Amino acid sequence: MHEFETRQYVGGAFVVGDAEPLEVVNPATNATLAVITGASAALATRAAEANAEAARAMRALSVLKRVEFVRRLASGIRAQAAGLAALLTAESGKPIVESRGEVEYAASFFDNAAAAAECAAGELPASRTADRRVLVLREPIGATVAITPWNFPLAMIARKLAPALAAGCSQVVKPAEETPLTALAFARIYEQIARDTGAPMAAFSVVIGDPPTVAGALISHPATRKLSFTGSTDVGRILASQCAPRLIKTALELGGNAPFMVFADADLDRAVEQAMLSKFRFMGQTCICANRFLLAAPIADDFLVRLEARVQALATAIGDPTLESTRMGPLINDAAVAKVEAHVADAVARGARLRIGGRRAAIAGLSRRFYEPTILSHADPSMLCACEETFGPVVAAMAFNSEAEAIALANAVPYGLAGYVMTQDVDRLLRVAEALDCGVVGANDGAPSTAEAPFGGRKDSGLGKEGGTHGLDAYTDLKYVSMRVRSH
Ligand code: SIN
Repeated sequence: MHEFETRQYVGGAFVVGDAEPLEVVNPATNATLAVITGASAALATRAAEANAEAARAMRALSVLKRVEFVRRLASGIRAQAAGLAALLTAESGKPIVESRGEVEYAASFFDNAAAAAECAAGELPASRTADRRVLVLREPIGATVAITPWNFPLAMIARKLAPALAAGCSQVVKPAEETPLTALAFARIYEQIARDTGAPMAAFSVVIGDPPTVAGALISHPATRKLSFTGSTDVGRILASQCAPRLIKTALELGGNAPFMVFADADLDRAVEQAMLSKFRFMGQTCICANRFLLAAPIADDFLVRLEARVQALATAIGDPTLESTRMGPLINDAAVAKVEAHVADAVARGARLRIGGRRAAIAGLSRRFYEPTILSHADPSMLCACEETFGPVVAAMAFNSEAEAIALANAVPYGLAGYVMTQDVDRLLRVAEALDCGVVGANDGAPSTAEAPFGGRKDSGLGKEGGTHGLDAYTDLKYVSMRVRSH
């Protein structure tokens, strides 16, 4: 076992947990990476108390100090990029090339939040009457809580923490139990930079433990003013109901079921390139990965033939995620593989045709969590792979005959996170982008995630936006001061 940080980071200090132990497993090898002593409700409450006090300290910091602090965190991440990427790969199974990309993606949220905070402003609307001025103040909302997923162990913390700090808030993070080590490695960076810059050491805490226990204690603390959660729709609903009694502000980034639409006028090579990015990034385990491929009937077969050639090549790059040449690692756990298997079996039983893949990949000396990149054609909306999020490397393709049919199919799910449209007709591109009932549209773009964009979904995919200036807004509240002005 390596020497990882396994203590909780609470109130500006590393402390040993006081509850059940939690094993962190490398999904590629099955090896135990670390055992973390979990946090009890009492320890989580201590973190929430420290968070409340740190919120007051953050509010007192000048904007320049905050911005400097947040920029230093970006540099701190970049300075430790190699170690963070290796750890991220070890606990999530993400191919090392992608983990490096995630580390840079995480740093970019700190850059972006610092820039947004530097430009943040209140308002002085035009007065309706001569004797009144209305000053609109933008204030930090205070103590916040973030619950983050295993698929982006660093970037999802960054997406929530960077704007929180830049806006003058504090945050306790509960990372996923599968990937807590990256969060703790980042906590070491945070501790060092807070010490060096004189920023509040306790404005960030990491609490790991039984999810309902830890989340319950953090949400029920009277000082908590906001919850930001990325994860499943089911858990999002439970958390929202826990936030409801005290009307805690929520940002919920939940499940997706993204349509990837290829029109007959698309540049097919480009569409295939973007499809590979959209579908197979982290083996299909991101919330915005394409789930349903909607193909214009005249080009459907041509597109699939070209895609299949790329998938065949990809299948030769499955293996140890620590290797530079690897493009596909393991899925996160056995349940994830079982879900992919169930979706493929269900589709085939209902008449889908398996073109390539459709089974686990056996890799000598590694776990049984590797799954071949898979293409199913002749899918239909009744199949599990079309109406649920597969979260794995499976293309489920179906044909459409008109733009109206494609839009109807795309929107016919309860989710609305991302959608993709491949076309060279600019009128169609805008028409379809506007018609898609989702929060993110990739227009000839299979990888639309970027720190400056307001990321978030609609319908069962959640509410609230994170990233860019809107991400900063989400951590501030407006107050107006109405002033009577005496005239001469
Ligand atoms: C997610 O899967 O939740 C985030 C996707 C991204 O930022 O690319």
